Amino acid sequence: MNVGTTIIKSRRSVRNFKETRVPDEVVRDALECARQAPTAMNLQPWLVGVITDRETLQKIADLADHEKFIGTAPVCFAVFGERGQKYYLEDCSAFTMQLALGLWSYGVGSCWVAGDKKPYADVVRTLLQVPATHTLVSLLPAGYPAEMATPAKKELGQISFTNRYAPP
Ligand SMILES: Cc1cc2nc3c(=O)[nH]c(=O)nc-3n(C[C@H](O)[C@H](O)[C@H](O)COP(=O)(O)O)c2cc1C
Repeated sequence: MNVGTTIIKSRRSVRNFKETRVPDEVVRDALECARQAPTAMNLQPWLVGVITDRETLQKIADLADHEKFIGTAPVCFAVFGERGQKYYLEDCSAFTMQLALGLWSYGVGSCWVAGDKKPYADVVRTLLQVPATHTLVSLLPAGYPAEMATPAKKELGQISFTNRYAPP
């Protein structure tokens, strides 16, 4: 048994949170995990907002499509990428995933909510007073899980091959 892979494999999206506050040290360490993520040419073209203000969380929840649970999360991270950088989407996706796994290492659940391509991306950016040089890539509401589903995953045999692909 390996602690690292056990944490990674047990992560699932959490959309129902306890009211318990996420300690600052946990937020800080998860952000430290995120900022170690790989980026094309090590450009690190990201900016992350840590939103704890209840009124702002509710405004973001109201702007999102169906993600009302953002309004009940103790904290929500907003990950922005530098528009001018070719690989901002990949880079900020890696950042988001490392952030989610860093949080989960402390038992804090989260749910990746789409930002890039969404009509609310620019409204959220304006709400958080982020300059137009950046664009919203993801929202990550987080908190201790009150409830957690475990959606099934495809089997390794269905999604992998060794050396050469052979149709089933
Ligand atoms: C790029 C991306 C965008 C997503 N957008 C949303 C979203 O807008 N709302 C939501 O509730 N979940 C969203 N999710 C979470 C997925 O629904 C979830 O990861 C998927 O159902 C698999 O479940 P799991 O995370 O528990 O393994 C998103 C995930 C990714 C990677």
